[in-house]
Amino acid sequence: MSVTDHLGGGYLRQALESDVRAGLTSSPKWLPPKWFYDAAGSELFSRITRLAEYYPTRRELEILRRRAVDVAGLTRADTLVELGSGTSEKTVLLLDALANAGTLRAYTPVDVDAVTLAAAAERLAVRYPGLDTRPVRADFEQHLALLPRTGRRLVAFLGGTIGNLPPAAREMFLKELRATLRPGDTVLLGADLVKDPARLVRAYDDPGGVTAAFNRNVLRVLNRELDADFEPEAFEHVALWDEDNEWIEMRLRATRPMEVGIGALGLTVTFAEGEETRTEISAKFRREGMLDELSRAGFAVCRWYTDSAGDFALTLAAIPPPNTP
Ligand code: SAH
Ligand code: TRP
Repeated sequence: MSVTDHLGGGYLRQALESDVRAGLTSSPKWLPPKWFYDAAGSELFSRITRLAEYYPTRRELEILRRRAVDVAGLTRADTLVELGSGTSEKTVLLLDALANAGTLRAYTPVDVDAVTLAAAAERLAVRYPGLDTRPVRADFEQHLALLPRTGRRLVAFLGGTIGNLPPAAREMFLKELRATLRPGDTVLLGADLVKDPARLVRAYDDPGGVTAAFNRNVLRVLNRELDADFEPEAFEHVALWDEDNEWIEMRLRATRPMEVGIGALGLTVTFAEGEETRTEISAKFRREGMLDELSRAGFAVCRWYTDSAGDFALTLAAIPPPNTP
């Protein structure tokens, strides 16, 4: 299966270098989350989705089981574009429903991790022999304009990954997505909802340490890609609920003072004991807020689906015809 790669030709390396230089020379320090996902990071994320504490995957799956047929009937999409597709495991529910509705022709999974992307595309090509499967390795914050521009498109963005974008980036992302779509196209957006903080924190700090290993993986990526000499085990995983922003924040806390060289940047970074580097936010949503963000970006919300526990939501939104607000 050939993967169209928009991150090749030094692009990824360049982006990683500038993100890491910006993040690790600022105060407080931060690292950008898209770099968690090399093959090892994707594998760790898959393990997270199977943890008892990590409810979002099962809740979203429950919604898709119940609603995929409705989504297929409402959208009548022929082209499914999936952003941050990962293993595409939940996607089969949408593909089955669209295939049964008789509209489905093409599937374009989009992800930064080439290994997981290619494996998922292979698996789906076998499962759906008539489907035009065209995986694209790209950054959904940079390359939306390079995604399929024809057909009646349904853009799926599952897993609550929208919550990993900070508010300003999220607003920009939604506007850019809106700009690439036309009337008739639709968006299916997965979002985790505000709930008991104790449950939220457990979902991002499992006792088995899988999430901790996932968090530290970003340091391994820097060691390999940028010739850095982080000792991942010298950093402790921190997950906390930020009440004001209503997001979970993941950090890596230095357990002792360290000087870390980043060879490719000719940079030495100093960590004080206890110093925390922010690696990820995972925003949690409320119905009003989500619908408001979507309408401000120019979408017309058609459905709000939740699971039976009210933990997670899928929003189906359309592009309104011209001249309607
Ligand atoms: N959709 C899957 C995976 C969610 S994890 C699910 O619901 O289980 C987030 C996925 O988005 C990962 O596969 C990661 O590699 C991908 N990703 C993260 N940032 C990205 C970016 N900027 N552009 C494209 N893919 C990205
Ligand atoms: N999109 C997932 C989420 O926000 C990503 C994720 C799950 C994650 N667990 C994590 C990111 C732990 C960083 C650390 O739920």
